[in-house]
Amino acid sequence: MSEILVVANWKSNKSAEDAKNWLTEFSQLAKSVNPSRPVKVVICPPFIDLPYLSWALTTLKVPFPVELGAQNVSPYGEGSFTGEVSAAQLTGLVNYCLVGHSERRINFHETNQEIYSKINNLVTNKISPILCAQNLEEIPQEVGKLPAQEILVMFEPAKAISSEGVYKAESPQTVKETVSLWQEKIGEYRYLYGGSVNENNCRELLDSGIKGFVVGHASLSPSSFLGIIKNV
Ligand code: PGA
Repeated sequence: MSEILVVANWKSNKSAEDAKNWLTEFSQLAKSVNPSRPVKVVICPPFIDLPYLSWALTTLKVPFPVELGAQNVSPYGEGSFTGEVSAAQLTGLVNYCLVGHSERRINFHETNQEIYSKINNLVTNKISPILCAQNLEEIPQEVGKLPAQEILVMFEPAKAISSEGVYKAESPQTVKETVSLWQEKIGEYRYLYGGSVNENNCRELLDSGIKGFVVGHASLSPSSFLGIIKNV
């Protein structure tokens, strides 16, 4: 895959109505955006917004591909797991799924074992996992048994995540060193970066050798999200 992946992680934001309004504004503004290199956009909304967005994207006309991702998936299969959504249930709705985001590891105590189960279930169901990790210890060793071309690995230092709209991205030099180290230790995955990406720092971060970003706060408004797409 040669295009730059720009992933929106809406986190626990946006009702069904908000998602509809976001897409309407995005589709109007995006018509005049011409990224200087090939870009693919992936929107990861809350589960409740997926059916509407999946339907609406079939008629969306913007100058780059837009696909969907989930923010989470069950470590189990289908069955008696109240409140969970399995990888099989996501099939046909999404092509990507975030796994192991620091907010899930911290707030929901996700372990590497659960994270590996999620990745394995996603790969089995032909959904590409975006594995989020702060360091090599957060990358389950068993991931090495799975086909690397199916998996994206995101360097996501928790301290770099924006808070209340204040951006504090990791330095491009640190991103570059981290990704080179991970390439050497675990191999040639598609590496992304996440943490305070915005329209002002995205170009410089991209020059550190990553293949795209995961964008939280700056993806909540269509205009700031498109600012990133314009500047990559
Ligand atoms: P942020 O979030 O862009 O708001 O820093 C990124 C993330 O949590 O992955």
